[in-house]
Amino acid sequence: MSKKNNIILIGFMGVGKGTIARALVKKTDFFAVDTDDLIESAENKKIKKIFKEEGESYFRDLEKKCALWLEKNVDNTVISTGGGFFRQENIHKIGKIIYLESSFEGILNRIHSAPNAKNKLKKRPLLSDLEEAKKLYNQRIKDYEEVADIKIDVENRTIDEIVKDILGSIL
Ligand code: S3P
Repeated sequence: MSKKNNIILIGFMGVGKGTIARALVKKTDFFAVDTDDLIESAENKKIKKIFKEEGESYFRDLEKKCALWLEKNVDNTVISTGGGFFRQENIHKIGKIIYLESSFEGILNRIHSAPNAKNKLKKRPLLSDLEEAKKLYNQRIKDYEEVADIKIDVENRTIDEIVKDILGSIL
């Protein structure tokens, strides 16, 4: 649907969208941007602080603005996204959408085995209550699948395998 040559990585918090984006940059001519990083730099504020001081709906408005900007201005780029970005109306106009899929338990294992696990949990306001996070995960999995052009299983697989899969599916 999209005429643009962007790869958009969607999926739940902590599934590894940023990690895979960085690995894709190493293996291709693509460069990468992350929607949360763009929002943080535009606001000069961490996501956690934006949620706390301005509220979630203010953050969602920024995501929308970011999505419109990406559609107009960005091409040939890997775009990693915040876990709720997939709801953007124009997402299909931005590029090819790849859903990184894992079970909730797989995501928690991944976060907990990271050397900076504490920070990974701390910076994500919607992960502060794990029961609520699991509910959000269950609510979203069907929607991620529906929005995605391509689904890639990332659980218990190496970064190299995942990158190979992604490149194989878009070429
Ligand atoms: C969110 C995911 C976060 C960040 C914000 C909201 C979500 O991004 O955008 O805390 O709604 O799932 P990550 O998926 O990179 O953690």
